[in-house]
Amino acid sequence: MKPGMSLIKHYLQFKDLRAEEYAYLFERTREIKKRFKNYEKYTPLTDRTLAMIFEKASTRTRVSFEAGMYQMGGSVVHLTTGDSQLGRSEPIEDSARVISRMVDIVMIRTYEQTKIERFAAYSRVPVINGLTNEYHPCQILADLFTYVEHRGTNVNCLKGKVVAWVGDGNNMANTWLQAAEVLGFTVHVSTPSGYEIDPAIAGVKNPACYKTFKDPMEACHGADLVTTDVWTSMGWEAENEERLKAFADWRVDAEMMAAAKPDALFMHCLPAHRGEEVTADVIDGPQSVVWDEAENRMHVQKALMEYLLLGRIG
Ligand code: CP
Ligand code: NVA
Repeated sequence: MKPGMSLIKHYLQFKDLRAEEYAYLFERTREIKKRFKNYEKYTPLTDRTLAMIFEKASTRTRVSFEAGMYQMGGSVVHLTTGDSQLGRSEPIEDSARVISRMVDIVMIRTYEQTKIERFAAYSRVPVINGLTNEYHPCQILADLFTYVEHRGTNVNCLKGKVVAWVGDGNNMANTWLQAAEVLGFTVHVSTPSGYEIDPAIAGVKNPACYKTFKDPMEACHGADLVTTDVWTSMGWEAENEERLKAFADWRVDAEMMAAAKPDALFMHCLPAHRGEEVTADVIDGPQSVVWDEAENRMHVQKALMEYLLLGRIG
C-alpha cells in the first residue's frame, strides 16, 4: 500500500471525526473519568506505547497524555526537537517510518500542519495533533466536553449555541470554527484588524458556522460561552510588542461577560496572562471553568486514544 493510503485513523484536525463519533467519545470520556475519580483500575492499553514529540513547549498536553497513557496501562516515550534527530534535519518521513515501527500511537506538537500531515502519511500507527500553528483539536475536544458537563447531557446540547471568540484568529479560533461546522453551533468571532481568521486555513465551508464582528462586545452579546486565548501564540514571539498594542481592546472583562447570557461560561485553553487577554476577575470568577477544561484534556484524550487504538468498545 502506498504511503498515505492506509486505513489508520489519525486525529489531525477536528473535522477528522464526525458528529456521531464525538457523541461516542463523550460517552466514553464520561465513563473513563468516572472510573478515574473512583480509583477504579482501567488498563485497556496495557503494553501499548505512546510516542510524544514536542517541537514547542507544553505543560497540559504533556502531563495529560503522559498521565493518561500510564493510567490506561501503557507507557510513553518523550522526544523533543533538541534531544532527537528531528532537530538535526532527519526527514520527517524517515522519522515517521522508524518511530511508528516501535510504538502504537504518536502525538505531535509542532509548527506547520503540513509537518504532521507528512508524518501521518508515512506512519503505520495513529497520529494525534497536540497543537500546530493551524489547529488544536484535543483542546477543543476538552472544551466541548466541559461545556456539555456544565450545561447539558450530551453532544446535542451544543446545537444552536453561540460561542464568542475574542482575540487572535489563531489555531484555537480555527478549531472552534471546525467544531461549529461539525456539531451545529455558531462562533461569533471578533479579532483586531490584521489578525482575522481565514476560513480557507480554518478549513470550513459552511458560512453559517461563524459571524465576524468588529466590536468584541457585540460578539459577546447573547453568547452561551465566551472564550479567548493568548495574544501571542508560540512561534509569533517576535511580534509580541505590536500585538500588545493591537489587542488592547480585545481583553475579556466583566463588561463583556455581562453582554453574554447570564449563565454564559468562560473558557481559556491556558496558559493565561491575567491583565492581557482576560482580567483576573473573569478568569478567577464564578463563570470560569478553566480548571475543569484543563483536567478534561486528560479524560477526553484517554477516550480518544482508546478509540483510535481499539475502535468502539462493546
Ligand atoms: N492548553 C495547552 O495545550 O496547554 P500546554 O501548552 O501547556 O500544553
Ligand atoms: N494559541 C496558543 C495555544 C497554547 C495552548 C499557542 O499556539 O501558543
